Amino acid sequence: MTKEKEYLKKLLQPIALPGGRFLPSRILPGPMEGVMTNDYCRIMMEFDLLPAWITPFIRISEGTPRRKKLEGRLTPFHPIPIVAQIMGTYRGHLAATAGILSDLDGVLGVELNCACSSPTVVRSRSGSAHLRDPEWIRDTLLAMRDSAAVGGIGVKIRSGFESPDELPRILECVSAAKPDWIVLHYRTAKEMFRSVPDGYRRFETARRLLPETILFASGDMFTCEKSLEVVRKTAVDGITPARGLMHNPWLIRDLEAVCRGETPPERNVVPFLLRLVEFVAESPVWRTGLILEIARNVWGSDSERFKSLTKDPRPDAMLKNIRGMG
Ligand SMILES: Cc1cc2nc3c(=O)[nH]c(=O)nc-3n(C[C@H](O)[C@H](O)[C@H](O)COP(=O)(O)O)c2cc1C
Repeated sequence: MTKEKEYLKKLLQPIALPGGRFLPSRILPGPMEGVMTNDYCRIMMEFDLLPAWITPFIRISEGTPRRKKLEGRLTPFHPIPIVAQIMGTYRGHLAATAGILSDLDGVLGVELNCACSSPTVVRSRSGSAHLRDPEWIRDTLLAMRDSAAVGGIGVKIRSGFESPDELPRILECVSAAKPDWIVLHYRTAKEMFRSVPDGYRRFETARRLLPETILFASGDMFTCEKSLEVVRKTAVDGITPARGLMHNPWLIRDLEAVCRGETPPERNVVPFLLRLVEFVAESPVWRTGLILEIARNVWGSDSERFKSLTKDPRPDAMLKNIRGMG
């Protein structure tokens, strides 16, 4: 078997976690707060497009949420396996929350978000703000591990706060806590969503420094080719495409097909969008944001199909319009 084929096969292998749990695959969805709503979860699971979730962050502020509340937060993601992501400032509450979450039905593990670079989040000393104090990340992961009797403990980071030169020290601290996985978004917090020409080099650095740690890559995986190129060139263990799932909701299933040596079938987004409109129409509030966002990503904002959807965004009109696209 060629080296490339070995990589592809490996992407489909599960990852063992403490307590006999498993991440079912190494191709997992990158969380998207605001996008992964009830309707998004419903449509993605009805079309069977994901092996598991990494949820968008659950914000833990000045208290530990009750078990019932956390159960409620995870309701949209059932019944497929869940990695629950948390983000916050206070170690004690984060650790206690990890303990509760790891004990909930369907939860494989808990991931600490140290990657969100939204100015509000950073101002509240949360998300990527922790990259400036990697010892805090290490100690928080250790506290989460102590609190969670079973299940995996992971962390999502960026390559630095100000500069990718911070990456080695961040990795040294984080790996001292022996997380079950690290997701690395290759941009720094300061780079937000800007393009970075040396992104792959940052993955290579992480791989070189942490040859034994399960390392997931994040950043700009919009197609199968691009996603698999990252694995081939940088030898990361897994990938977490996020915005690419808006361009192609089948992206993860297509990647899995390629890893099995198959050619992904042609995909028709029309039945997907029709069903999504039905779901959104059943919700208490009619919101077209998600439908238009997916349509824009799939067809492009200049396409006639997208433009025609924006002209009459009432449910019946949208249904008729999309049905006509056949
Ligand atoms: C709308 C949106 C919401 C996001 N929410 C989260 C989040 O809740 N947790 C997280 O770890 N990353 C979040 N991300 C970051 C993505 O998971 C991912 O790391 C980033 O978009 C880069 O990957 P991509 O180029 O494949 O999208 C979000 C990204 C977007 C676009």
